[in-house]
Amino acid sequence: MKLTLTNSSIKDIKNEVLCVPVYKEQENIDLSFVNKSLDNLVSNLIDKKQVSFKIASFTNIYSLNKLNVNQVVLYGMGSKSAINYEKIRYISGELSRYLNSLKIGNASIILPGEKIDSLEFSSTVDAVAQGFLLGSYKYDKYKSVKTTNTLTNLEIINTTKKSFTHNFNDIIDESESVNLVRDLINEPPNYMNPPKLEEISKAISNNTDINLSVLNVKEMEALGMEVILGVGKGSAHDPKMVILNYEGDKSNKENNIAIIGKGITFDSGGLNLKPGMSMRTMKTDMSGSAIVLGVMKSIAYLKPKKNIMGILAIAENMPGGNAQRPGDVVKAMNGKTVEIGNTDAEGRLVLSDALSYAVDQGINKIIDIATLTGAISIALGNEYTGLFGNNQNFINDFLQSAKLTGEKFWQLPVDQKYSKLYKNSIADIENVGGREAGSITGAMIIGEFAGKSEWIHLDIASTGTSPGNHGYNPKGPTAITVRTILNLLKN
Ligand code: BES
Ligand code: MG
Ligand code: ZN
Repeated sequence: MKLTLTNSSIKDIKNEVLCVPVYKEQENIDLSFVNKSLDNLVSNLIDKKQVSFKIASFTNIYSLNKLNVNQVVLYGMGSKSAINYEKIRYISGELSRYLNSLKIGNASIILPGEKIDSLEFSSTVDAVAQGFLLGSYKYDKYKSVKTTNTLTNLEIINTTKKSFTHNFNDIIDESESVNLVRDLINEPPNYMNPPKLEEISKAISNNTDINLSVLNVKEMEALGMEVILGVGKGSAHDPKMVILNYEGDKSNKENNIAIIGKGITFDSGGLNLKPGMSMRTMKTDMSGSAIVLGVMKSIAYLKPKKNIMGILAIAENMPGGNAQRPGDVVKAMNGKTVEIGNTDAEGRLVLSDALSYAVDQGINKIIDIATLTGAISIALGNEYTGLFGNNQNFINDFLQSAKLTGEKFWQLPVDQKYSKLYKNSIADIENVGGREAGSITGAMIIGEFAGKSEWIHLDIASTGTSPGNHGYNPKGPTAITVRTILNLLKN
């Protein structure tokens, strides 16, 4: 989709369709011009309650050559006083799919938010652009008949008296990263297996400032990473750890952070096999790793002054003759021993060696992203991503970065009182803590491997997938956390 910004008067707009924001308050200069040109049709429709101002409800009017556009789409903005960037992104996402459903190729949209003081011009343009770029995402790679979007040109109109220019490059890059992550997660698990994820990591870091290295079974054995190796034992594909190193502040090695992603390309549960319905969506269990790749792709573009290490903890969790058993004891790179209480709690296992590795590399700050627990959807449902951590300042910085992106996080407790739930008589800890506080014990087991580093864990098991079309999140993988992490790393 090509994006442009024009500073033009509404009467000069020629296009297939013109989208005009409408607010509950009904004070809109642009609308009055459209209304006049259409012989008061708009105000008549409003009088007859035929126009909805509700967020993302659309009213389509044919202009019958009274305007230089064929159709006008009034798009509902709700109340002016309640508008913010997240709502603009949401509405724009809905609008992108609506215009595609009308088979529109070229559209003009009047920038929402005119005369709203809380909105800054350039961020508003970005919110509209991103809503369109993310909302019109489609995955049809394996369809023999493609469902290509019709909308190819979006002209964003600035009707304020001030003239503006806008550089779309950053928002396009970020949106492309989000959509790349969605593609990776959508890829079927017979294709998206551990070697494939490694291959894609290489392609992404190729010709960038990112240095890629891979720990295969041999190297992981040498480093004492028995825990991730255990998870991969039942699979035909070897587990591996992919490390993407970006050094944006070489003179200050301490200015570093690691972004670590769970990369289970398929989670059958292992010998603790999942029931069919629970297994059905488990190709998404590498979402954390995909998110790390999306973040690193944008880091190569943004080039922030920071040392950033991306780590993908990759394995396929399968049953089989050589599979890990409940009762097995494995030792992590940091020396801690773990008894396997349940082979289906494998995310924390692969992450334990990845965090140990990051700590060993002298990393001061760690963020891990994982589709970790079904329990997080019981606690928070689909709206908030579960957030855990061991350092409140770091957490506050993260939550601050989330404010502008609209991605929602809710902090849950990390309290040593819970650690008794996963204590073990055979090994240092067990990999499961029972039904109670399942997301907390899952998080805290990962935290056992953070050493003295500041650490944040994001449980995206529920928010990683959108159950339906919602604003800029079409049904399917959301790639949530990419935008907030990028915002944190940029600043
Ligand atoms: N990958 C799952 C978590 C998950 C569940 C992700 C639903 C997305 C949707 C994870 O590996 C898992 O199986 N967790 C277990 C942990 C339990 C055995 C302690 C779970 O949540 O049931
Ligand atoms: Mg599992
Ligand atoms: Zn899993």
